[in-house]
Amino acid sequence: MSELKNITVIGGGTMGNGIAQIFALGGFDVNLTETKKELADRAIRTIDKNLSRMVSKEKIGEEEKNTALDRIQPHLDLTAAIENADLVIEAVPEQFELKKKIFEKVDQYAPAHTILASNTSSISITKLAAVTSHPEKFIGMHFFNPVPVMKLIEVINGLKTDKYTTETVISVSKKLDKMPVSVNDSPGFVSNRVLMPMINEAIFCVYEGVAEPGAVDEVMKLGMAHPMGPLRLADFIGLDVCLDILNVLFDGYKDPKYRPCPLLVKMVEAGKLGDKTGEGFFKY
Ligand code: CAA
Repeated sequence: MSELKNITVIGGGTMGNGIAQIFALGGFDVNLTETKKELADRAIRTIDKNLSRMVSKEKIGEEEKNTALDRIQPHLDLTAAIENADLVIEAVPEQFELKKKIFEKVDQYAPAHTILASNTSSISITKLAAVTSHPEKFIGMHFFNPVPVMKLIEVINGLKTDKYTTETVISVSKKLDKMPVSVNDSPGFVSNRVLMPMINEAIFCVYEGVAEPGAVDEVMKLGMAHPMGPLRLADFIGLDVCLDILNVLFDGYKDPKYRPCPLLVKMVEAGKLGDKTGEGFFKY
């Protein structure tokens, strides 16, 4: 297995900047691409702030923070950012057409040995792999928010992903001090196939007047030892993202048990998307 050294992260949003941070702290050289200078600057500022928090908690020293920051090179030009990449991780919004366009370009300009990964939480890895000329080198690396805190990386094997690609990604995940779990491509993978029906059912409890949002969350926090209740978690993930994933499950399995609760649909239509809009099931 060859050593991965240069990592390119495409997209500097919540997930992308977290991914860049953990690779830089893990000693890798990171190219972080964004579409606008303001967005690239914001990603670096967020990483700086999160690393400073780690310094103040004495998890890392000031020097380690600065070394990690120096390892991250922001880019606005995707082609230049991938020319030496050993591993490319895409973390852009969950739109198939957008990801397709990016992977077609990456496929054209990345070196032949490069492993391509998507951080998608719901789009088929097999379908994304099919837009590239090396589907055997394509894989899902599904990180969890907040990336620096959550231990899991759900490693998703597409239909054509080869053993070498899976083993390499598992090995690099362990070097980041994460716990990779390998699963096969299927709508929602394992994480969201299990998580989203729970969140949806919690929303149905509110919709049917069984309990107020606060009470639903207290039950799950105090009774099931969840760090956040399902409705607080839904706000944290984004209600639009939850709805998109439920629709992927509903369409993928054609099973009514995945139907999104009408209250979720209505809240998304009203623009109440959770933390990012200041209001969801709770106010922020
Ligand atoms: N970056 C770095 N560190 C962070 C952080 C961030 N963005 N947010 C919190 N932390 C750290 C804090 O510094 C703190 O560290 P110490 O324990 O060393 O002090 C630790 O995390 C706990 O943070 P807080 O004390 O501030 O708050 P908390 O105890 O309430 O924990 C939480 C916050 C970690 C988010 C916790 O509530 C939790 O685990 N929630 C569940 C999160 C979850 O389920 N995420 C997965 C969502 S699903 C997804 O991402 C994928 C998908 O496909 C939808």
